[in-house]
Amino acid sequence: MKSGSQICLITGVTSGIGKETAIELARQGMHIIFNTRDDERGHASRNEIIKLSGNQNVDVFFCDLASMKSVCTFAGIIRAKYDKLDILINNAGIWTSRKIITDEGFESQFAVNHLAPFLLTHLVHDMIKKAPSGRIINVSSGIHYRGYLDISDPEFKQKSYNSINAYTQSKIANILFTRYLAESLKETNITVNCLAPGWVNTGLFREANVFVKLSARLMAHTPRQGAENTIFLATSPEVANITGEYFEKKKVKKGSRQSNDMILAEKLWTLSKDYLKDYINC
Ligand SMILES: NC(=O)c1ccc[n+]([C@@H]2O[C@H](COP(=O)([O-])OP(=O)(O)OC[C@H]3O[C@@H](n4cnc5c(N)ncnc54)[C@H](OP(=O)(O)O)[C@@H]3O)[C@@H](O)[C@H]2O)c1
Repeated sequence: MKSGSQICLITGVTSGIGKETAIELARQGMHIIFNTRDDERGHASRNEIIKLSGNQNVDVFFCDLASMKSVCTFAGIIRAKYDKLDILINNAGIWTSRKIITDEGFESQFAVNHLAPFLLTHLVHDMIKKAPSGRIINVSSGIHYRGYLDISDPEFKQKSYNSINAYTQSKIANILFTRYLAESLKETNITVNCLAPGWVNTGLFREANVFVKLSARLMAHTPRQGAENTIFLATSPEVANITGEYFEKKKVKKGSRQSNDMILAEKLWTLSKDYLKDYINC
C-alpha cells in the first residue's frame, strides 16, 4: 500500500499510553498501523482512534507479542502490505505479578517487553530504511534506575522469581537495545531513541494491589500526559539528529550505569539473537 503520509507502526494501542499516542499521531495526519491480541478490542480501538482523530488511515492486525511466531506473522503482513515505515514505536509492555512461561518457553516479561520488540524491529527495519528519515522509539521506564539486569539469568531460572526485578530488568534491556541498535544504524537514515513516560495511570497496574491502584488513580499522570514524551520523539524536529539516547520529560538523561554499559549491550544483543534463532530469519 502506497501512502503519501508518514506511516507509523506502534504496538500496544488498545489501552493506556499507546492509545493516546496513536490518537495524537493520527490527528497529526500519520497513517497508523497497530497490533492487537484481541480482535474485538483492536477493532474498538481502531474505531475510537478514527473518531477522535478524524483520520481514516488506521489499520489493525492480530499479533500476540508473547508469541514470537505471532510477531513473525505480523511482520510478514506489514512487509506485504506497505512499501515503507517512517516510525516504529515499541510501546507495548506488561507487568505480571507472578512468573508466567509463554507457550514458546520464555519468561513472559522478558518475552513481551524485550524479545518481541527486538524481533519486530529486526524484521521491519529494512522498511524504515526506505523512509526519507526513520525513527525507532522504545518505551522504557524511569524504574530502570532501580533495576539490575542479570545477563547470566534473565529468565530467573537459577534464582527465585521477583516480578518487579523481572520488569525493571526488561526496561534496562529496552535502553541497552536502543543504544546498540543506534550504533549499528548510525550510517543510515534511522535514529533510535528511548524514553520514560513517567508514572501514568494505565492498565499496567491491573495486577497491582489496591493501594498501588488507588495511588495511581490519585497521583499519576493521565495516559495523555504519559504520551507526551513519545509524541515528542516521534514528531519533533529537535530530535531529528539525535540517536542512541534515553529521554525523560523531553530531555536527554544519562540513565543508570548499567543502561550505559555497551559491553553489556553487546552481550544482550548476542543473547537475544540466540534466544530468537528460530524466528529472526522468518
Ligand atoms: N504506566 C506507567 O506508569 C509506565 C511507566 C513507565 C513505563 N511504562 C511503559 O509504557 C508502555 C505502555 O504501557 P501502559 O502503561 O500504557 O500500559 P497498558 O495500559 O497496560 O498498555 C499496554 C499495551 O500493551 C499491550 N500488550 C501487552 N501485552 C501484549 C501482548 N502479549 N501482545 C500484544 N499486546 C500486548 C496491551 O494490550 P491489551 O489491551 O491486549 O492488554 C496494551 O495495549 C509499556 O512499555 C510500559 O512498560 C509505563
